Amino acid sequence: MGLPYSKKVIEHFKHPRNVGEITDADATALEGSPACGDMLKLTIKVDEETHVITDIKFESFGCASNIATGSILTEMVKGRTIEEAEKVTWKQAADELDGLPPVKMHCAVLAIDALKSAIEQWKERHGLTEKELTTPDRVLRKLRNVLNPLTGASIVRMQLLQDFDVKDGVITIDLDLTREHKFAAHIEEEIHEKLDHLWDVKEVKINFVGKPDS
Ligand code: FES
Repeated sequence: MGLPYSKKVIEHFKHPRNVGEITDADATALEGSPACGDMLKLTIKVDEETHVITDIKFESFGCASNIATGSILTEMVKGRTIEEAEKVTWKQAADELDGLPPVKMHCAVLAIDALKSAIEQWKERHGLTEKELTTPDRVLRKLRNVLNPLTGASIVRMQLLQDFDVKDGVITIDLDLTREHKFAAHIEEEIHEKLDHLWDVKEVKINFVGKPDS
C-alpha cells in the first residue's frame, strides 16, 4: 500500500514550481539528509536594498515529499524578505501541503535546512550575521554540508576529511582523495563555496593527500 499523501503533495510532486537553478544566484545551498542520503539544491536572488527574495529555484534529488516541500517552500518565500523567510519552519511547510506522512517529515526538514543555509550564506556575504569567529567547530559544521556527489553523504561522514586546521585566517584542509579523483574538483569547489566568503578567512588551502589506488 502506498503512503497516504495529501492531494496537495501529489499535485506539487507532479507539477513542481520553480524547478531549476539560477545561474547568477546570490546564494546557493546544497543540503543532504543523513536519514536517506537524498539531496536538495536551492539557489536564491535577493534584492540588496529591500532584502526581498526576488527569485528562488530548487532541484531535488529526493523523494516525492522532498520535491513537494521544495516546491511549496519556493512559493511560500518568493517575494518575502529573507528576515521573513528564515522564520518559516518545516512544520509550516508540511501544513501548507496539508500534512506529510510522519516517516517523511525529514524530507521537509531537508528543504528548510537548504533555505536556511542559503539565507545564512547571503547574510554572511553582506556582513549581516553576528561576526562569529571561524573556529574549528564552525569549519566542521560547514564541511558537514559538503557532500560526495556519488553517495550524497557528507565528506565528514565518509571520512574523506583527514585533517584540518584554522590559523590566522588560513584554513588548511587535508582530504583523503587524490587530485585525479573524478569528484576532486567538485568537492574542492563546494568547500570554497562554503568557506571563502567567511569574514575572517583570508585563504582556504586544500591538499589532496589520498594515495592512488595501487
Ligand atoms: Fe529522502 Fe524524502 S526520503 S528526501
